[in-house]
Amino acid sequence: MHVRRKLVAGNWKMNGSLGQLSELQPIAEAAKAAGGVDVAICPPFTLIAPAVTRSGGLMIGAQDCHAEESGAHTGATSAAMIKEAGGRMAIVGHSERRAEQQESDAAVRAKAQRALRHGLVTIVCVGESAIDRAAGDHLPVVGRQVAESLPDGWEDGELVIAYEPIWAIGTGKVATAADIAEMHTAIRADLVRRYGDTGMRLRILYGGSVKADNAAEIFAVADVDGALVGGASLTAAQFVPIIEAASKS
Ligand code: PGA
Repeated sequence: MHVRRKLVAGNWKMNGSLGQLSELQPIAEAAKAAGGVDVAICPPFTLIAPAVTRSGGLMIGAQDCHAEESGAHTGATSAAMIKEAGGRMAIVGHSERRAEQQESDAAVRAKAQRALRHGLVTIVCVGESAIDRAAGDHLPVVGRQVAESLPDGWEDGELVIAYEPIWAIGTGKVATAADIAEMHTAIRADLVRRYGDTGMRLRILYGGSVKADNAAEIFAVADVDGALVGGASLTAAQFVPIIEAASKS
């Protein structure tokens, strides 16, 4: 039996400001009080260092990470830079980056490898579009993303998978418990087939319109090991109840 501690990670996307870092302290206090849950916030790059100093012990991370160590990559940020700023996590392959920056599975995998090599908790995002789901192709589409976006092996860091159906992100539409169970079970089977026993230890997060009022139901689904939260991670008032639901699950 593998006990996987829940992870609730907030993705601020291109939101937030120095002033908004005042949300971190109450989030950190609530996380400590709830207990038994890992909690992280991934603000924009410019806020990572100031967030670390005001984190109250929360894990702070980045929303992307370049695949190369350093060099002529204007506008990019490396894993080493994230670490130097105090970041301990990187999200890679978010669907917004796959769409807006045309990131392929191979590119996402290279980023994940680099982030892991630097010891970062590395969340690799996968998820199908509304068209894929309507066509009944969601399982093969996500299966392919899992196969091609994840590294074959890693020595450092922690690999985490986030299943985020694109149609559920920022829309208020949540996948049903049955849909989530179907996908997380399929991802778990892929992970075990590929990594053996390690595949049982990897955390699989659900993401897409996770809120205070649906979190408990989502966390009760088998093989849901936490959540990647966008909109509802921006304020302590909305994020704390999700942390508490994870703690009770
Ligand atoms: P959302 O975003 O919670 O605002 O739907 C989730 C995500 O994109 O990670």
